[in-house]
Amino acid sequence: MLFTKNDFGADFKWGVSTAAYQIEGAHNADGKGPSIWDTFTQRKKKIFNNDHGNIACDYYKHYAEDIALIYKLNIPNHRFSISWSRILPNGIGAVNHKGIDFYNRVIDFCLELGIEPWITIYHWDLPEALQQKGGWANREIIHWFSYFVDCCIKHFGDRVKYWMVLNEPMVFTGAGYFLGVHAPGKKGLSSFLAAAHHAAMCQAEGGRIIKSLRSDCKVGTTFSYSHIEPYRHYDERDNKAAAKVDALLNRMFLEPLLGMGYPTDALKILERIDRFMHPHDEKKLAFDMDFIGLQNYTREFVSYAPLMPFVKAKIIKASKRNVEHTLMDWEVYPPSIYNALKRLHSYGTINEIIVTENGAAFNDSYEEDRVDDYKRVKFLQDYIAQVLLAKREGVNVNGYFIWTLLDNFEWAEGYYPKFGLVNVDFKTQRRTVKNSGRWFSQFLQNTLSVSKEVWNKERYGLI
Ligand code: BGC
Repeated sequence: MLFTKNDFGADFKWGVSTAAYQIEGAHNADGKGPSIWDTFTQRKKKIFNNDHGNIACDYYKHYAEDIALIYKLNIPNHRFSISWSRILPNGIGAVNHKGIDFYNRVIDFCLELGIEPWITIYHWDLPEALQQKGGWANREIIHWFSYFVDCCIKHFGDRVKYWMVLNEPMVFTGAGYFLGVHAPGKKGLSSFLAAAHHAAMCQAEGGRIIKSLRSDCKVGTTFSYSHIEPYRHYDERDNKAAAKVDALLNRMFLEPLLGMGYPTDALKILERIDRFMHPHDEKKLAFDMDFIGLQNYTREFVSYAPLMPFVKAKIIKASKRNVEHTLMDWEVYPPSIYNALKRLHSYGTINEIIVTENGAAFNDSYEEDRVDDYKRVKFLQDYIAQVLLAKREGVNVNGYFIWTLLDNFEWAEGYYPKFGLVNVDFKTQRRTVKNSGRWFSQFLQNTLSVSKEVWNKERYGLI
């Protein structure tokens, strides 16, 4: 038994995702202002190998070559983000016309080749000028962000139909304002809760602004979402710990958007967000998105950890559990995406789900113009099969985007983990399509079938 692209239906959106800071480079070109990632990467020992995105894949100059590659690979949808400080160097106020021109060129070239552009408004690169005023921890961000959204829609909304407001708010507030491992490197509960609440407000407000300016656009926002299990199923404390981590990682931004408020039932500490709430905020946190972007890579196992502050829980890494994992130390577990899709569907109020990111970082073997990344091919086939399984069981999932087109700057991990369908030689900027890119391309031409064996439920035991 086999499945092909056709099994997903003609309307299913296949695509590839990228993000501005991870690929563009040109960090100070043509009037761009600095972002928090430009400053954070200058701090020593924050990033693996002290890497930075100053040049990255130099997409700013190579965008035409890269979009042409997307075209050659038969990929019909390209998701990318707008660098806020490239179009508004100070975050608010005067527009940098050269920055606007760049995104116009990107959009127009996509359209010329018949590729649908999907824009993420914010993928983590806040203008440094706004961080100087407190960034996401300052409630004024709702005003600054609204200005940015307005600017994006006014300049690009005539041609771009699909919009995502935020990329993974849990990650940029958690890693950036609580753990201090991502820009802007802040630590502490108070700055995190403030940043998180303001991001949740912006996610809904952004949706409202886009719809009010262009009711013909499709608006969504994206969430990182991992299937979570207690480390010891029989242990009550591990079960409680898993429920807390689930509330924090999966529910915290989604449920307020769906009008359910913060998940304080499982994670009491979230009651402290009250300090940052203004009258009517609860209502303003809700917005009916056209679609929810699901970003899934793995599942997590959680155990009770009394010494961990606030959540009293810790994640047991895949390498410690001795299971197959990627270079990010994330378990390869395809049913994770099936479980995430079923869970989102079970809310009953989500209009449509698009998988806006899924992919894997492996050690690829590179030989004379060939990159044999069979592990990635297998990973993609197995995860895509799980998407089909969920779809067949009635989940309204209508798209799947691979993370990512090019090997790129992987945040705190620098250039070490490579997720791309295309290899980049960072010395020469030469691109080489990997076997996974070729595989995806053939699959999208519908000339390739994938064995149904890969989505056999039994193979993974517990789902
Ligand atoms: C982010 C990407 C990132 C990818 C792999 C997602 O969390 O949106 O920017 O590169 O996962 O870590």
